[in-house]
Amino acid sequence: MPEPVRVTGGKHAGPAERPYDLVLTDVRAVTPAGVIRGGVAVRDGVLLRFLSAEELPRAARTVDGGGRYLLPGLIDSHVHFRTPGLTYKEDWEHGSRAAAAGGVTTVIDMPNTLPPLLDPADAARKAAMVQGRSLVDYRFHLGVAGGDPSPLLDATPREATSVKVFLAGHHTAPTVVRDPASLARIFGYARESGLRLVLHAEDDGVFELLDNWTGAPGRYLDYERVRPRSGAIVAVAKVLELVRRHGTAVHVLHVSTAEEADLLAAAAHAGLPVTFEVTPHHLSFTAADSARIGARARLSPAIRHERDQRRLWEAVLAGQATTIGSDHAPHTREEKLRPVADAPPGLPGVQEMLPAVFTGMRRHAPWQSPGTHLELIARLLAANPADLFGIDGRKGRLLPGLDADFVLFDADTPWMVTGAAMHSKCGWSAYEGWTMAGQVRLTVRRGQIIYDADAPGTFGPPDGRWLDAARPATPAHPTQGAVR
Ligand code: NCD
Ligand code: ZN
Repeated sequence: MPEPVRVTGGKHAGPAERPYDLVLTDVRAVTPAGVIRGGVAVRDGVLLRFLSAEELPRAARTVDGGGRYLLPGLIDSHVHFRTPGLTYKEDWEHGSRAAAAGGVTTVIDMPNTLPPLLDPADAARKAAMVQGRSLVDYRFHLGVAGGDPSPLLDATPREATSVKVFLAGHHTAPTVVRDPASLARIFGYARESGLRLVLHAEDDGVFELLDNWTGAPGRYLDYERVRPRSGAIVAVAKVLELVRRHGTAVHVLHVSTAEEADLLAAAAHAGLPVTFEVTPHHLSFTAADSARIGARARLSPAIRHERDQRRLWEAVLAGQATTIGSDHAPHTREEKLRPVADAPPGLPGVQEMLPAVFTGMRRHAPWQSPGTHLELIARLLAANPADLFGIDGRKGRLLPGLDADFVLFDADTPWMVTGAAMHSKCGWSAYEGWTMAGQVRLTVRRGQIIYDADAPGTFGPPDGRWLDAARPATPAHPTQGAVR
């Protein structure tokens, strides 16, 4: 087993310059230019420079990285932290601790709260609710309702660079857009105001037809049959038609089927401004697990079959998927114990995401090195979400001048997931009993240690910031270089 992380004072005096705030030595830094062995030096919350293996400058705090990997702090662009109105399921104190323990230093929160975030002017109000409670930095996706999408036209990049559209979802989404004319208007307005649409692309009409025909599901074995792949595929086909017509940039969330991955990869190849996300749970579970795990693995879109999972892994490993997002969507144990048709879909995942994805990569592509896998993770979980949502000026890469957001990751020490180790307010995990292939040792946000695996139960200050953003570019081929 690697030695525990050692935190010491800066007793090795260097040149007579102002000491750094934090120095990490002996890390394998996962940078855009590859993995670099050495150290990093931080002052005023910013990564100032990389250090050679021999350098040991003066610092208020020096941490020996023990040869472990240092990744950029992860950006989870898909969390539901449930504020306001649903804080009995999750709140920012718990959600951001789960994030920090999972190596996530920035989250972009979803708008399906009570009330939902529909007016850009309310983003500042939401930020005021979060201020002083979050360990991690944050931004919000705006929501939109079918009736009057005109507030989109007023959104500034400060407030949002993205709009979440639910095309289905009755338990958890109060603002499903069903009417094609409204949807077309949303695509037009988003294009006009330079907003990226992030889409829950399942077709409500397909599900309604099936429900009226067969009734709601009575068993978890049936869940995938009544919330089938056709719902997702039909929705994606409609979305591609709208992208073609309006030129709007879209990011399709939680792609669950082989057909969606094919359609979206083909559309990106054809030059449409289309990207997509895959979730850790669609990469980790199959329908057989859903039948066994039941409500804890029930979500929208449903977990699919082995061949879908294989295709999703291919999309990840070949650089077709642009981001991985946790879709951290906690519900209480009581809610999950309801009869099948009433148990709300969604599961927590922001803490499990990095270890689950790394474990899956080791299993699905064992011929590649851990370093190659962590480079891919740094793109899908940091650089690409930063680019897509306009925060790449400060976040997403280990580069001098950017925020000192890091995660020190031990790629060699397996550990077992227990509900007790989870920090989400819901207190359970669909991965309970899983053995993960690697673990988060230390998480640093803007130069402050916010999570240390050697100091269980203690966290840094909850002074995460509401980030500003720039209007993101609309890349024609946003996917990064394939890793083969
Ligand atoms: C999400 C939730 O609970 O907010 N649930 C889920 O299964 N993904 C909402 C949603 O995306 O449907
Ligand atoms: Zn979601």
